[in-house]
Amino acid sequence: MSKQFDILVIGGGPGGYVAAIRAAQLGFSVACCESNPYADLKGEPRLGGTCLNVGCIPSKALLHTSHLFEEAAHGFAAQGIEVGTPKIDVKKMLARKAEIVDKLTAGIKGLFKKNKVTFLAGHGSFAGQTANGWKVRVGDAEVEAKNVIVATGSKARHLPNAPVDNRIVCDNVGALDFDSVPKKLAIIGAGVIGLELGSVWRRLGAEVTILEAIPDFLPAADADVAREAQKLLGKQGLKFQFGVKIGEVKTSKKGVTIAYSDKDGKAEKLEADRLIVSVGRVPNTEGLNAEAVGLKLTERGQIEVDAHCRANLSGVWAIGDVVRGPMLAHKAMEEGVMVAERIAGQAGHCNLDLVPGVIYTTPEIAWIGKSEQQLKAEGVAYKVGKVPFLANGRALGMDAPEGFVKMLADAKTDRILGVHIIGAGASDLIAEAVTAIEFSGASEDLARICHAHPTLSEVLHEAALACDKRALHF
Ligand code: FAD
Ligand code: NAI
Repeated sequence: MSKQFDILVIGGGPGGYVAAIRAAQLGFSVACCESNPYADLKGEPRLGGTCLNVGCIPSKALLHTSHLFEEAAHGFAAQGIEVGTPKIDVKKMLARKAEIVDKLTAGIKGLFKKNKVTFLAGHGSFAGQTANGWKVRVGDAEVEAKNVIVATGSKARHLPNAPVDNRIVCDNVGALDFDSVPKKLAIIGAGVIGLELGSVWRRLGAEVTILEAIPDFLPAADADVAREAQKLLGKQGLKFQFGVKIGEVKTSKKGVTIAYSDKDGKAEKLEADRLIVSVGRVPNTEGLNAEAVGLKLTERGQIEVDAHCRANLSGVWAIGDVVRGPMLAHKAMEEGVMVAERIAGQAGHCNLDLVPGVIYTTPEIAWIGKSEQQLKAEGVAYKVGKVPFLANGRALGMDAPEGFVKMLADAKTDRILGVHIIGAGASDLIAEAVTAIEFSGASEDLARICHAHPTLSEVLHEAALACDKRALHF
């Protein structure tokens, strides 16, 4: 007799585990299966998916350590702190990162217990339909559920001419675990991973060169922000080559050689000790047995879903990286909550137009809503309030004067259409902008709100004032 549940979630990443917990809160009997190779102390697959095991959390831990290292090496002296030349103990840095991952992934198992979600270790694959739901094989067992939420996430896209061994040629998994700081590090792809992990290893002493296929830098960001980011990251020492075409990638005992043609078509070679391939991610649908049960995929291999993450089969839903939309943990979680609530007959909703984007470089980059180039292309009349962090006392006190906040508001109605930040604390500051836009706020609404002094949030306040040409401190 197979185990029976109201809901089976396939995949225990941020989308899946949040969907499972919310569904249990709503009174359903819920199971979540997970098959990743990252085992906990009991030898069971760890929950948390890409995000907790080999993504958001470990990368932010390394960003923090490397930031402190850089401050000690280059920032402390100007403030009268003398520590000599700092040294990095990579093993210890990785152990700290691993401890955080262990704590958080174990924490999710604890949350499952608390919420009475059944954890099933094993790979989930559709086995067929039943009278009122689905049969799914989980490892060697069979499970029946009225609803199935597919939350199988994504994995790194690899290039055919650059086989990843996660030793010399690495994707995100190996790039978070170098056992020493490479002298020379090459990166293919100047996207989010390239910039964040490129920053980590550069701060620790690597000479980093990033090879990017397209001619533009961060095309999804506001062009002003992208320009400023390229300038600041370049000044920190990241080297960029745009418009390249990658050729043969050869590894040897000494390292790796990447043949490529530059933007003018000239043949070039880059030698490095290690290479990170960060050229986007592909949805995980392998082994789901999707075709056999008629689960429809898009041309890009994602599970096709409607605005509420309903797939083409009755009682089947899909969320997170395995469906359309930005591949971000907070988007996956929002969809998880929405689907659980929809199954319960509630009005769950996820606004894909208002998913904030953050890049955790120094300075941080964060945005929400439309960019200036998007508004121009759409022919929307807008006004701009742009204020630099340089004019903010807290930013100067923190020795973080770089960057700006740029607010875009509708020229007629004053409704905020987009906020783009490059500067200290951008990842947290953006939350106020998201709230304002979700509430259909105007720049005047933010301008009339009292912001604590001295805080970085005053830059956002000033940007709102600047939309009406009445900034007080700039
Ligand atoms: P995943 O986290 O990929 O989880 C899916 C899970 O399903 C996996 O554990 C997988 O093993 C399991 N699975 C797959 N198939 C099956 C199956 N058939 N049966 C059972 N289990 C299965 N996002 C942010 O928002 N902020 C960040 O700072 C950030 N940093 C990142 C840094 C890096 C280096 C990387 C690689 C990604 C980062 N991301 C970040 C993206 C984020 O990790 C993903 O968007 C998020 O993890 C997606 O969640 P998910 O639940 O859809 O999928
Ligand atoms: P990405 O999509 O951010 O960037 C990939 C880059 O590689 C692009 O600039 C693309 O033009 C380039 N590229 C593609 N093919 C190439 C080729 N053959 N040669 C050279 N360049 C090539 O993807 P990335 O950095 O791999 O990250 C994957 C995803 O993970 C992100 O899109 C994001 O959704 C998520 N992520 C989010 C983070 C955050 O929120 N802070 C941090 C890291 C990852």
